[in-house]
Amino acid sequence: MSDLKSGLSEAAGAAFASLGLPAEHGRVTVSDRPDLADFQCNGALAAAKAARRNPREIATAVVEALQSHPDLASIEIAGPGFINFKLTDQALAVRCNAIAGDARAGASGVGQPRRVLVDYGGPNVAKEMHVGHLRASIIGEAVKRICRFRGDEVLGDAHFGDWGLQMGLLIIAVGDEHADIAEALDGLKTRPADWTEAQSEDLAQRLFARIGLEDLDRLYPMASARNKTDAEYRDRARKATAELQAGRFGYRLLWKHFADITRVALERDFHALGIDFDLWRGESDVNDLIEPMVAELRTMGLLVEDQGAQIVRVARQGETTKKKLPDGSVVVAPWPDPLLVVSSEGSAMYGTTDLATILDRKTFFDPDLVLYVVDQRQADHFLTVFRAAYLAGYAAEGTLEHIGFGTMNGPDGKPFKTREGGVLKLRDLIGMITAKAEERLHEAELGEQLDAEAFAEIARKVAVAALKFADLGNYRGTSYIFDLERFSSFEGKTGPYLLYQAVRVKSVLRRAADEGAEPGVIAVAEPAERELALVLDAFDHALSEAYDRRAPNFVAEHAYRLAQTFSRFYAACPIMTAEDPQVRGSRLALAAASLKQLELALDLLGMETPERM
Ligand code: ARG
Repeated sequence: MSDLKSGLSEAAGAAFASLGLPAEHGRVTVSDRPDLADFQCNGALAAAKAARRNPREIATAVVEALQSHPDLASIEIAGPGFINFKLTDQALAVRCNAIAGDARAGASGVGQPRRVLVDYGGPNVAKEMHVGHLRASIIGEAVKRICRFRGDEVLGDAHFGDWGLQMGLLIIAVGDEHADIAEALDGLKTRPADWTEAQSEDLAQRLFARIGLEDLDRLYPMASARNKTDAEYRDRARKATAELQAGRFGYRLLWKHFADITRVALERDFHALGIDFDLWRGESDVNDLIEPMVAELRTMGLLVEDQGAQIVRVARQGETTKKKLPDGSVVVAPWPDPLLVVSSEGSAMYGTTDLATILDRKTFFDPDLVLYVVDQRQADHFLTVFRAAYLAGYAAEGTLEHIGFGTMNGPDGKPFKTREGGVLKLRDLIGMITAKAEERLHEAELGEQLDAEAFAEIARKVAVAALKFADLGNYRGTSYIFDLERFSSFEGKTGPYLLYQAVRVKSVLRRAADEGAEPGVIAVAEPAERELALVLDAFDHALSEAYDRRAPNFVAEHAYRLAQTFSRFYAACPIMTAEDPQVRGSRLALAAASLKQLELALDLLGMETPERM
């Protein structure tokens, strides 16, 4: 289904072509001056420049050619050669009826669906979630939904961080605390020959069930601090990590326990936020691909030795940057940085795993595009990894994209921390926002007729909307300050405001149905109806912008505009008190179409709309 802008662009393009000028000059956009026009075309200026002709002359000829277009109420030239279009009420009504009857609420799909993998969230075992992970999850979920809705085949992968030094640190910390576990782990270097899966499970249950998440939360910070100061401890942790990665049986069992309990808790918390991954593949899943990959990189001649480490140089001839050395002096060095594949101690690194993951994804999904929704602070890392992947032929040039974003900051302007100065746990964050949402609902005297369970569910939806809209309402590159008071308000540009508006429309439609009034055929007459029609039409464009730029804020902004425009329409155009039943039916249909589109937009942003409040 095409929007009004595309229809006009086509007609204007044909008019340019009939004058012997390139059709692309006919591109029509939404008017900068809605008081004067609905749409405008600036192509006569560019066309005139290229053809060395007078722009007004060209504009006049284009207007002439379009004069009898049935959808145009007026077409005029402004200034040096801008063309202003105003549509007939009838043309707007036709479009609104199409939107009202469309399950996609007027949004078109992509011409050529792609296979897209969205790598987002990126939580780790033991290492706590920080705001970078939260934003990655919120933005990634929306990007995933937008691509899927547009028609791509999409998989979202949590890329679980389950394979680094943190695992070795936890293994020794647990062993140090539980002598019986240490002893058992010592005895279980390799898997006994006749050992069954059930035996492993029994053993793990007997030995490890007592180790819970709270133990990991307690032990990891301790071990990580000790790692920094205690060389012997560090060596033990490194050795344990290397042995785990090499397949030491008892370590693998314990590691699996850590990963399982973390994942269960994370999945539950993410789900509460309306974030659900299709895949939970971990860094560990590509462990076995690393050795052959390193060998292959060597055969290709890409791997070079550098101070005991194995690296892949990715900077091209002449690509350099100025770098500050620890002593303060500045040198010119190749840039992007090389990929560190094997450290001087012989371990695979973060980038090694990422490169192997690219290979893995090629095998099981063969994506046309991989979107890495990760903190902007990792931009250099991805630049390097992508270059290495292209050099090795593991991915086609341009198919790997880093979707960076700014940070969510505290009132001090630094990445958000708790009052105690720690990183915020996802569960605590959810609790905090939900409590605030409950308070706000009480304040606004909303949800009072509901039982406790239903009220709690609404508070959760309001909380999710508050958090997500605060994040998705601005372009992702922008950092923002976490301001719970503002985010949770039912007034202003907030998630709760949008939910409230959607619920209001639902109740209007419910009451109408109770009184036996049905949505009918849309006719557009009042200025507020025209305005609403134009906004409904603009959804398609907002969505394609969001899709092309991997920027959900275009959808968020559209939702806000729609809610506001609907509000004005509702104030100016009474529905149930309209005397003419056809007018009533038309306005009800406009309300239903607005609701469908608003709910759809909110769903793409990962927010659920309650039935009532
Ligand atoms: N686990 C990583 C971190 O906490 C994020 C992973 C992002 N994705 C990736 N393919 N590297 O920083």
